[in-house]
Amino acid sequence: MKTLPGFRDLFPEDFARRRYLTGLWRDTARRYGFVEFDGPTLESAELYRKKNSGGEILGQLYEFTDKGDRTVALRPEVTPTLARMVASKHRDYPKPIRWFNVGTCFRYERQQRGRLREFLQFNCDLVGDATSAADAEVVALLIDLLRSFGLGPEDFAIRLSDRSAWHDFLTLHGVEHDHAGEFLNIVDKMEKMPFEKTEELLAPFGIPQATIQEFISTGRIPALDPLLADLEARGLRAYVRPDLGVVRGLAYYTGVVFEAFALQGNLRAIAGGGRYDRLLADLSDGLADLPAVGFGVGDAVLLELINEIPAAKSLEASYLKSEPPLQVYLVIADESHRSNALALAQQLRVTGWRVGFPLGQEKVGKQFGTAETLGASHAVVIGAEWPNVKVKRLSDRMEQELDHATLAIWLEEHGAAVS
Ligand code: HAM
Repeated sequence: MKTLPGFRDLFPEDFARRRYLTGLWRDTARRYGFVEFDGPTLESAELYRKKNSGGEILGQLYEFTDKGDRTVALRPEVTPTLARMVASKHRDYPKPIRWFNVGTCFRYERQQRGRLREFLQFNCDLVGDATSAADAEVVALLIDLLRSFGLGPEDFAIRLSDRSAWHDFLTLHGVEHDHAGEFLNIVDKMEKMPFEKTEELLAPFGIPQATIQEFISTGRIPALDPLLADLEARGLRAYVRPDLGVVRGLAYYTGVVFEAFALQGNLRAIAGGGRYDRLLADLSDGLADLPAVGFGVGDAVLLELINEIPAAKSLEASYLKSEPPLQVYLVIADESHRSNALALAQQLRVTGWRVGFPLGQEKVGKQFGTAETLGASHAVVIGAEWPNVKVKRLSDRMEQELDHATLAIWLEEHGAAVS
């Protein structure tokens, strides 16, 4: 029995990497004053269908009818859930609201490097502030996040754009704004689509591909100036590149949009986000008309990228090595004292010590071998000397016999503090 395509088994070594990612995600979000929230992984499919997510995501929904005849979907992204939650209770929170989420998402995508069908996504969203200072705060958070993994300006860049520039472009070419979403979806796919296919899709808009390409290559984005000045003041300007070619595939974006990508190799986007000033109002029938900006990062591309960048890989390795090993291994030299060993293990564990012991009878030599393998700093031999025990510091074989009741104090005094 294998996992379904695009789904993963996480063995302990994989889960250690996940803990590394999510630890830095949470640390960085908190440094920017964001607090964690979560919503359900199963939602009414309507949440994504109504003018919300739009675009490609709708074709990738894990959608089914539940036993109560509801059309439901596993969440492909968290933004519509966040928007619904904030809209329903925003009066309870001071603005701007800074929320983050670490959660599983599902998309029935074509499987490729860095793209799966079940993945972990980290989202940071700032609600209730429509200024470019809020955009800058979120983009700076994303840059610091990637930097925390040991990635530098030679490894990644954030391509920044603004959909308002595209709206001006459409007005100039006489295209109604109602069709903007459809048009921008084509622009979003242009880089990857065959030329003829793009021409065919663009035909109804009467704008040739060459005109779009010219706009992308020569277009300035004045709306980005305050954001760029803000990032400059933070010393983060080197990480961003204005680029009209980024429009994003989701329908709800209204202003600034951005994507983080690796500068080497051809990995898919590491992160994507932007401003969505109408989504909350749309989801609450205008009751909560709040502007918002945010981004999402997936675990899969980030893990691939870390594997490719030596500085990032060695930073990860130093973290993985620092996983706390056992502190004490109880060596049961005489089986008739097993119940004493169990009582001692329990007493130590309850007070915070990481303790191991053999589950069945084993030779003393083998037990010492296990203590070393598990990285324990001390072995405690329980046998004929009970109520005394023999403690051995494994690094230098220093040994001492003492009353088991004073063991915790002795361990603390000899460099095995509870941590
Ligand atoms: P998105 O660009 O669809 O945006 O996804 C954001 C990130 O999630 C991607 O850059 C990628 O790292 C990861 N991701 C997406 N799909 C997959 C997949 N199939 N497998 C692995 N990773 C994936 C959003 O989801 C927006 N809701 C982000 C946002 C938050 N915008 C505003 N706030």
